[in-house]
Amino acid sequence: MTSRVQHQQASKPTTSPAQRPGPAYEDAVVRLRAVRKAYRRGTHVEEVLRGVDLQLRPAACYYLLGPSGCGKTTLLSIIGCILRPDGGSVELFGQDVTRLAEEQRAALRRTRIGFIFQKFHLLRGLNAVQNVIVPMTLLGVSERLAHRRAEELLELVGLKDYGNHDPRMMSVGQCQRVAIARALANDPELILADEPTASLDAESGPQIMALLRDLAHETGKTVLVVTHDARILEFADEIYELRNGTLARLR
Ligand SMILES: Nc1ncnc2c1ncn2[C@@H]1O[C@H](COP(=O)(O)OP(=O)(O)OP(=O)(O)O)[C@@H](O)[C@H]1O
Ligand SMILES: [Mg+2]
Repeated sequence: MTSRVQHQQASKPTTSPAQRPGPAYEDAVVRLRAVRKAYRRGTHVEEVLRGVDLQLRPAACYYLLGPSGCGKTTLLSIIGCILRPDGGSVELFGQDVTRLAEEQRAALRRTRIGFIFQKFHLLRGLNAVQNVIVPMTLLGVSERLAHRRAEELLELVGLKDYGNHDPRMMSVGQCQRVAIARALANDPELILADEPTASLDAESGPQIMALLRDLAHETGKTVLVVTHDARILEFADEIYELRNGTLARLR
């Protein structure tokens, strides 16, 4: 469904031999150019991102690897309009989001980006179907429609008969599936997942990743997954590593 466009190299020259930029795409959903981010603690400045270039196309599943503390969550948060970079540009869906007001960024997060976190962040006191309904309620979707869609999404992630279950009584793999269904609620084009398989066992980790990859390939979504999990690398179309503040394409 997508055109895989222009496999020319990104135009910016590399600064280090280890840094191999990925391809450039005319229809990129995400386009980062020279993104920089530093954290200041008192007088100490930690430069986490030192010029990150990256292009992500539709219908593909990307992995982001790198040692603990190297800035993976920071980069994901910048792409997801949770954090703003100090420099460089971040284009989502053809629009530079660093220039948008906070309200517009929040609207993008609600409507076009789905987040999946390591620890699920499911809401207590709500059953599975109610958790999936929440993002739709925020957009004013009618209760009946939201309920129907939540049930369809739970079926999609293999939890057809679990709608009424309390997540506290579900396994971690099942909770992560509920979180994935919730991330898909508003049919986002871009799905960002931060270590989604970290709490999962040897069987459910690859199952979850196969599900995310199939979503990308079959429904045209762009999926970006931060992971340390060597068991699931086969599910990636492209793999990048973040090290010393820059990205290198591994595969
Ligand atoms: N809000 C913050 N204020 C100050 N420093 C921060 C903040 N968030 C992250 N850092 C620092 O920035 C660096 C990158 O953090 P980040 O969470 O992005 O790493 P990560 O690659 O996701 O690590 P992990 O694999 O352990 O999750 C770390 O050294 C961290 O301590
Ligand atoms: Mg992290």
